[in-house]
Amino acid sequence: MRYDTADLSDTLLDWYDRHARQMPWRAPPLSGQKADPYRVWMSEVMLQQTTVAAVKAYFERFTNRWPTVRDLAAAEDADVMAEWAGLGYYARARNLLKCARAVVADHDSVFPADHDALLKLPGIGPYTAAAISAIAFDLPETVLDGNVERVMARLHDIHTPLPAAKPELMVEAQKLTNAKRPGDYAQAVMDLGATICTPRNPACGICPWRDPCLARANGTAAELPKKTPKKPKPIRLGIAYIARRTDGAWLLETRPDKGLLGGMLGWPTTGWAEDAPQEAPPLGADWHDLPAEARHTFTHFHLRLAICTATVPQDALPTRGQFIPQDRFRPSDLPTVMRKAFDLAHETLRDS
Ligand code: ADE
Repeated sequence: MRYDTADLSDTLLDWYDRHARQMPWRAPPLSGQKADPYRVWMSEVMLQQTTVAAVKAYFERFTNRWPTVRDLAAAEDADVMAEWAGLGYYARARNLLKCARAVVADHDSVFPADHDALLKLPGIGPYTAAAISAIAFDLPETVLDGNVERVMARLHDIHTPLPAAKPELMVEAQKLTNAKRPGDYAQAVMDLGATICTPRNPACGICPWRDPCLARANGTAAELPKKTPKKPKPIRLGIAYIARRTDGAWLLETRPDKGLLGGMLGWPTTGWAEDAPQEAPPLGADWHDLPAEARHTFTHFHLRLAICTATVPQDALPTRGQFIPQDRFRPSDLPTVMRKAFDLAHETLRDS
């Protein structure tokens, strides 16, 4: 390396002191303020696989409604799941509650300032433990998220494709981690990746690391990081049954905790498989097929959900789910794919 790592990391901190993004969970650099570990933890869980822009409004709602870890631990499961609706990766919400309850029960309601203790908590993996350790407790841990991977691959002109390159990128990221201000440093690299060293059209001309950056020198920044092509996702099919009683109540069910959309409210559906669904509807009724389908992409497959609707009498007895009166049903409590199905169906099941 032509540059001393301590100098590189100080240069970046200098940039961060002037250009740090404001985040509702962040202590601004040089402000003397300390970040609240509860807010840092909440933000890091929300930011897993999700952009800052999508997270901000959810973060504000969660922390206004449950300002401390004790408040969250005492919340009803269904309220937390409903508040998370639309953010995706719902196992995060189930683990959020489990983790809050573990912090209250086992750590006297105080997040442990210890990487290994954090790692033992539900929903906290190596990345999140490192991020909380650094950002909330200023411990010298290294964070390696997608932004940091890109910055490291370019700074060192590393052409090994992801994900195989991760260990190599981690070694480089560790060498640069600033011992004096690890929390600010962690956020500085993330901000650099998010605002300057962007996937497309990086703003190399104004980058604090423009001189040491090997990819810039070699003209390879735009093609880095290399990625091993992903396998195409298969398409799975299912049917959502949207039934409404003549008094306006909707037939809904809470999905089992295990599995996709676990713990979330939704329409009864068939299983989701590559072959056409076979199972019977949750209720004998005069079902109508909607001409449109709800499409949604999950981590491992694309889902195409056909939609059947029915209006049913007051004494209808479903084999699954329960009727929720119309004044207690909020479409915003539904996860996105169920919300898409509702938006397509509700025109045909309008209040009579
Ligand atoms: N992505 C994940 N954690 C972040 C943070 N603390 N600041 C900015 N982006 C992030």
